[in-house]
Amino acid sequence: MHLLYVRQGCDASVLLDDTASFTGEKGAGPNAGSLRGFDVIDNIKMLLELLCPQTVSCADILAVAARDSVAQLGGPSWAVPLGRRDATTASASLANSDLPGPTSSLNGLLNAFSNKGLSSTDMVALSGAHTVGRAQCKNCRARIYNDTDIDASFAASLRASCPAQAGAGDGALEPLDGSTPDAFDNAYFGNLLSQRGLLHSDQALFGGGGGGATDGLVSAYASNAGQWGADFAAAMVKMGSISPLTGTDGEIRVNCRRVN
Ligand code: HEM
Repeated sequence: MHLLYVRQGCDASVLLDDTASFTGEKGAGPNAGSLRGFDVIDNIKMLLELLCPQTVSCADILAVAARDSVAQLGGPSWAVPLGRRDATTASASLANSDLPGPTSSLNGLLNAFSNKGLSSTDMVALSGAHTVGRAQCKNCRARIYNDTDIDASFAASLRASCPAQAGAGDGALEPLDGSTPDAFDNAYFGNLLSQRGLLHSDQALFGGGGGGATDGLVSAYASNAGQWGADFAAAMVKMGSISPLTGTDGEIRVNCRRVN
């Protein structure tokens, strides 16, 4: 899912393997070790190239796969505008500077999204994607050992599987939504109300630690799944239209891992 929010926009640059002439986004700090599923995209692309060569871009495949994954897990659905083309390069340094991280403050998150033309409502609604998936211990360690706005028993249970010392336990996976880890529902927001956000950047959306500007929205989404679903779908369409390549810009890649 992080595949979408990259570089200048939705141009599938994130799928490119590093080459001699550029270092791409896959290993960039915010993405390191957290992007998986490239083989799924490879398979979809292979079938599409057999049926209809050089017609469907890798960027469009990502946008549709994101929509279908959400719907499959019980979340909302939406119409995906199509016609994106693929980037012919990728940049680790842009991915590093544009992506917020798990220790970002509320202001840091709001700025990063606003730089891409996304509002605070978009930011909070999109963060609800952390209703599914896992985070590595190294990305929540500082929160579960140092933060004070965390439920005590929640922190204690996480400490049991995520050791305090950096090293061997770094890759242990913790559910982003401890209540319903594999359902695309609004439980993520209920968790924030009870200080059970896994990442510092999750809890920053509610409870004063981050300043409180988005508290009202988090409460509304926690009690109204329909409102969240509608805002999430709208924000996904908006995020999916961040500086796409169109017309004769870019290309339709044959292999999503390489420029043609
Ligand atoms: C608000 C800023 C965001 C930050 C700081 C952030 C940060 C993170 C981090 C650190 C992880 C764990 C990665 C790992 O440990 O391997 C993660 C996982 C994830 N994020 Fe985000 N994220 C943000 C926004 C988003 C958005 C907008 C979406 C999608 C709409 C999203 C979807 C996901 C998903 C689905 C996972 C789980 C991946 C998996 O289980 O493999 N995140 N995020």
